[in-house]
Amino acid sequence: MNLEALKQTISDLKSLSKSQFGQSTLQSELDDLYRSFLGKKGEVNLLLKSLGSMEPETRKEAGKLLNILKSDIEADYLELTSSLTKAANQEKLAKEKIDISLPGLQSKKGSLHPVSRTIQDICSFFERMGFDIEAGPEAEIDYYNFEALNVPKDHPAKDMHDTFYLNNSGLLRTHTSPVQIRTMEKSEAPHRIICPGKVYRKDSDLTHTPMFHQIEGLVVEEDASFSQLKGLLNDFLEDFFGEEVELRFRPSYFPFTEPSAEADIRWNKNWLEVLGCGMVHPNVLEGVGVDTNKYTGFAFGLGVERMAMLKYDIPDLRAFFENDIRFLDQF
Ligand code: PHE
Repeated sequence: MNLEALKQTISDLKSLSKSQFGQSTLQSELDDLYRSFLGKKGEVNLLLKSLGSMEPETRKEAGKLLNILKSDIEADYLELTSSLTKAANQEKLAKEKIDISLPGLQSKKGSLHPVSRTIQDICSFFERMGFDIEAGPEAEIDYYNFEALNVPKDHPAKDMHDTFYLNNSGLLRTHTSPVQIRTMEKSEAPHRIICPGKVYRKDSDLTHTPMFHQIEGLVVEEDASFSQLKGLLNDFLEDFFGEEVELRFRPSYFPFTEPSAEADIRWNKNWLEVLGCGMVHPNVLEGVGVDTNKYTGFAFGLGVERMAMLKYDIPDLRAFFENDIRFLDQF
């Protein structure tokens, strides 16, 4: 090729590359074009290789012109690449822009479940009266749940209908009374304890759930008396409801107390049962080695959900277990 023809080719390549680069909108297109002009087998390289066959005096001039073409194409490529990147970045920034004037999301504050709150309220009253808080296992054995509490072998509460039996001869406690026995076994009288916890019965309808909460109270002292029991419960109920209550003891039966009573309070003109109680049966005290010549005891047990329903005017027991946030929000 002579110099004139080469000059023509260079000028053609220059305008071709200009127009092709100008039409590319993707980085990959720019890269392909770059390779087709400046790659190993690109047009410019082929021309550079052909320099060898040229006259030495024109070769120098031709080399210079080809190098100018090369750096022109390179400059176009770099410029377009950088403006594509800039545009892409701008688009990304626009998309990710945060509107700092938008109000934030409010996170919900939790509150105590009414059952937990009722347990705390009740325990705090008895703590002020000098009671210790005790706990016991929910999976019990027959001895603590029944036998040590003077429950006869054929007592209806032991029926499969009423108690959840576990396969390893255990059972789910049906009341918190076994904690009385465990406490008296592990330490010497006198005792003043209060024991909140979950209890289980094979019962499920509008007013019963298979699991509910009870609070047990036990006092074993030198002259614990029935009137002391009634006075204490009266103080407790007035503290709990925050007003004067009318309390009535109605004779009842529990195998582990004698005499036994159910305590009713006057509620909207009717009598309403709120707990079971009585003087601890001598068989129970003797069973755990308490000297019944020296000590007497009284005990009581109440249902936490029932107390919470009365205090917070909750009509349906199921509301405690559904965990509807709108219900819980009210406390
Ligand atoms: N454990 C009895 C029940 O679950 C309640 C109770 C406790 C009664 C203590 C008397 C004394 O029904």
